[in-house]
Amino acid sequence: MPPALKALLAQIAGWLLALAAARTGLLPAGLWPLVASQALGAAIAAAVLRSARWWIPIHLAFTPLAVSARGLDLAPGWYLGAFLGLLLIYWSSFRTQVPLYLSNRRTAEAIARLLPQRPVRFLDIGAGTGSLLRHLARQRPDCSFCGVELAPGPWLVGKILLGGLPQVAWQRTDLFSLRWSDYDFVYAFLSPVPMAAVWQKAQAEMRPGSLLVSNSFPVPDHEAQRLVDVDDRRTTRLFVYRIAQRDVEIDGSNRLYSNS
Ligand SMILES: C[S@@+](CC[C@H](N)C(=O)[O-])C[C@H]1O[C@@H](n2cnc3c(N)ncnc32)[C@H](O)[C@@H]1O
Repeated sequence: MPPALKALLAQIAGWLLALAAARTGLLPAGLWPLVASQALGAAIAAAVLRSARWWIPIHLAFTPLAVSARGLDLAPGWYLGAFLGLLLIYWSSFRTQVPLYLSNRRTAEAIARLLPQRPVRFLDIGAGTGSLLRHLARQRPDCSFCGVELAPGPWLVGKILLGGLPQVAWQRTDLFSLRWSDYDFVYAFLSPVPMAAVWQKAQAEMRPGSLLVSNSFPVPDHEAQRLVDVDDRRTTRLFVYRIAQRDVEIDGSNRLYSNS
């Protein structure tokens, strides 16, 4: 079950439990006992639904904070504005389970060192605001770069910031809808959730000898050829996978041919 659906069900279960407790007369009168029992019920329901551990404090805090916020007497437009702002930044994170956070400068320097000393075509899948590409494009004007980003907010920021760099292509699209065969180096900083699908696509489309580098999240059940530990505060680890020679490939016309 998708985590967002579990969260919704947990909140509904919390309200049903709180209302049932109120009807039986078990709860003291007043709003806050009802709110507290809803929060507790939602947290228990989330645990029963096997939500990730960090959902529990969110469920415990959600309704108490929502009720407290009503006391601030803010105009509804503020809530709508905050919702739209978060929507533009996180967009389909509830589905992809990949939020926005950016590679730091030390990681960008480590990636620049991993680039071969010849012109390469580099793809950042889920490129955020393009900050990594901006750094790399300045360091390596001989290479070409492409970033794909789904969320409109970060994409728009990247569009503005990357405007003066002709060797960077910037697209608003799903990383799985693009063909990766045109690139020598594919960089991913996503989450554990899509890594099996990323590996499957890399195996199907990337050319032998090209590199897939994942920041922080290894491909499940496949050992990286190389690990790079970045000397930064979050102790970033890069997992480097070299795409192996395939025995046979199927090209666009479904014709089988050998690589060798
Ligand atoms: C952790 S950020 C990494 C940003 C950038 N690559 C960096 O290292 O600074 C991951 C980004 O991937 C984007 N993303 C997640 N799933 C995506 C998808 N299916 N297609 C395109 N972008 C996606 C998210 O919107 C988010 O901005």
